[in-house]
Amino acid sequence: MKDALGNSTQDLADLFQWLSIPSVSADPKNKPDMTRAAEWLKARLERSGLEAEIIPTAGHPVVYAQTKQLPERKTVLVYGHMDVQPADPLDEWETPPFEPSVRDGFIYARGSSDDKGQLLAHVIAAGRSANLPVNLKFLVEGEEETGSPNLHDFVRGHVGKLACDFVAISDGSAFAPEVASLTIGLRGLTYLEVRVTGPNKDLHSGGYGGAVANPINALVTMLASLKGEHGRVAVPGFYDRVQAVPEAELASWRKLEFSETAFAEAVGVDALPGEEGYSVLERLWARPTLDVNGIWGGYQGEGSKTVLPARAGAKVSMRLVPDQNDSEIFELVKAHLLSVAPVGVRVEVVELHGGLPVALNPADGPVRAAKAALGRAYPGREVALIRSGGSIPVVATFRSELNAPVLLLDLGLPDDGPHGPNERYSLECFHRGIEIAGYLYEEIAAL
Ligand code: BES
Ligand code: MN
Ligand code: MN
Repeated sequence: MKDALGNSTQDLADLFQWLSIPSVSADPKNKPDMTRAAEWLKARLERSGLEAEIIPTAGHPVVYAQTKQLPERKTVLVYGHMDVQPADPLDEWETPPFEPSVRDGFIYARGSSDDKGQLLAHVIAAGRSANLPVNLKFLVEGEEETGSPNLHDFVRGHVGKLACDFVAISDGSAFAPEVASLTIGLRGLTYLEVRVTGPNKDLHSGGYGGAVANPINALVTMLASLKGEHGRVAVPGFYDRVQAVPEAELASWRKLEFSETAFAEAVGVDALPGEEGYSVLERLWARPTLDVNGIWGGYQGEGSKTVLPARAGAKVSMRLVPDQNDSEIFELVKAHLLSVAPVGVRVEVVELHGGLPVALNPADGPVRAAKAALGRAYPGREVALIRSGGSIPVVATFRSELNAPVLLLDLGLPDDGPHGPNERYSLECFHRGIEIAGYLYEEIAAL
């Protein structure tokens, strides 16, 4: 069956089925859903003619699949993730996150853009051609949204099985609707938790305040010391390995149609403070950041409570750019936090996960093939080379362990709203994505 625009209604029905499974990797109560999501994908890959299997890991299982591998063809490993971020705040969704629905040309559901819709485009494209021009392999994990804690070891342990010429990933967004763009950079990430402990139990703040150190006061002083003047991170050594953006690339960014005002308006803020001397795009794509992602301690309920809390904590993440290294940045920030910890509290700094930044070489074969594929989908239009502020931790591991170049063919849009309420994916992107994935395989075969 086809819809009014000639697109297969089966493809959308398939996506709806997969989106209905709440595969939230972070929440232990969704563990059975992770298995269901993997089983659904395995069956769908088989329907596209691939041989598929579910492989357990120490965390959530991985789905692996391959077409018949012919030695004369190039081999493309498609990577993606079937896990999604938690759907809260639930009351901000117009329709429930795991009951997909279409409104005004968009599919609304958690995971629609990140990453089920984008990945399914490849799975569907793989089944479209009776005579695929490349050997395909699929590696789909269930832990990307929690930092891929088990995938690095999985890749190292299956180097032979995953051997390929190129890795293709569709898990991000294009620059703007109707702009053909290709991503050549991702930021890396260091994610840590700071735990501050003071007295052995919560105390009366009248009986003890002023004499006993308050862990929340200590924590916020320490956190404040991480940022200095001019919007810069104040941790010694933090910028040592940061590479400047080549002038030609900067010039190409200046040609992109980007309004800082519209960007601010879209998220409801009236100013965009940040590192001085850099445009918003530079700050998003080529400068490192430090953000507090969560903070807790003391009394959070209705009204007031005069308490001097026993403990406090915060989650802090740093987005990294070439050539920063996630473990090195963790050590620098940890050392800084410990050096500013006031007396009277104990401070623990724990690394939760990390990943290296990625810079692709636009002259590499797979990037050229992706460019050609986009050129066919957007005839007569130039393909813009952009970077992304997001992170995909396993990319650097693919490059080092499989020794294969990676391409980032992002099929989403910047306002899809991944991770937030009312995440959506444009129907047009979904159907066009299937077409582009098919072109990509042809262009890779032609390299
Ligand atoms: N698909 C995103 C990464 C992304 C976002 C790429 C926007 C390009 C543009 C991915 O699923 C993601 O959310 N990654 C996390 C990684 C983290 C949990 C280790 C991120 O960037 O926060
Ligand atoms: Mn993703
Ligand atoms: Mn994500």
